[in-house]
Amino acid sequence: MIRFDDVTKTYIRGQNPAVENLDIEFARGEFVFLVGASGSGKSTLMRMVLKETAPTSGTVHVAGKDLSRIPSWRVPALRRDIGMVFQDFRLLPSKTAYQNIEFALAVIGTPRKVVRRLVPEMLEMVGLEDKGRRLPHELSGGEQQRVAIARAYVNRPSILLADEPTGNLDPSTAEGILDLLAEINDRGTTVVMATHDRTAVDRMRRRVVEMVGGRVVRDDPEGTYESVAPVSVISGNLPDGAEDLEDREDQDRPTTDEAATDEDTTDVGATDERRPLIEPDADDLLDERDAHLREEDEAFAEALDDPEATR
Ligand SMILES: Nc1ncnc2c1ncn2[C@@H]1O[C@H](COP(=O)(O)OP(=O)(O)O)[C@@H](O)[C@H]1O
Ligand SMILES: [Mg+2]
Repeated sequence: MIRFDDVTKTYIRGQNPAVENLDIEFARGEFVFLVGASGSGKSTLMRMVLKETAPTSGTVHVAGKDLSRIPSWRVPALRRDIGMVFQDFRLLPSKTAYQNIEFALAVIGTPRKVVRRLVPEMLEMVGLEDKGRRLPHELSGGEQQRVAIARAYVNRPSILLADEPTGNLDPSTAEGILDLLAEINDRGTTVVMATHDRTAVDRMRRRVVEMVGGRVVRDDPEGTYESVAPVSVISGNLPDGAEDLEDREDQDRPTTDEAATDEDTTDVGATDERRPLIEPDADDLLDERDAHLREEDEAFAEALDDPEATR
């Protein structure tokens, strides 16, 4: 479904690559956690899948297609088949929950009848059937993320990329979000989730890919947030004395909320610092969608006037 062949991405010549010699494949239907410190290349990996940024060398295949050979006019079609969820939700602030979801359908010219069926269905799936008329600022963080997930999933994409989707949420809210992503995965969508949410990763026991400095250092089919022994699955080599560390699992793994909170706090700051570098692309995308939307204004007005629609 997604394949990286010897992919290196260097944003600024002379600087260290954000992603280096990446060789990895995510199969159809998989649920993959991407873990690793801030700056280890998780978002860069996702942005390459979306063709928001191109590799400096190597190739990325999505659904069997070499992304470097997809002409720019086909990129929107590619992105329509990939749902994306972010840490900061990125809902349109002046549109209701209902409209935010409707949006994703309107831009691909979905017939109004279908929209009227699908949007309430999505609201129900994410547990917000009674909150369709709320604006984002009238919703909690967890509810906003639910709307964002509904919007990302309403087109039934074959891939859902979630970049630290629980990063701004308290632990119990985060749990609900994760369950939702797991449900989407159960329905057949490949889910790749970058996260610092140790509890989530340890609870799910799905594939864990860990990155350090742009390289994959661990790829564990049913992993935990932290490697249970300092052994790289990739190299397969046991470091000296590794045999002595076999029992490390229960000793060294910090599982307290305190440990998780420390790491989360550090990361939120670091993400904020980088945000200006990353946001313009996403804004462009939203602008593009907005332009489409204006053409659909009439349909929107009608849907808004339809009291059935948001109930
Ligand atoms: N648009 C950009 N321009 C220049 N450098 C970038 C850009 N985006 C990310 N980087 C750099 O690439 C590296 C990997 O970043 P990123 O993929 O955002 O990591 P993560 O998502 O794991 O925190 C970092 O050193 C970061 O500073
Ligand atoms: Mg990131």
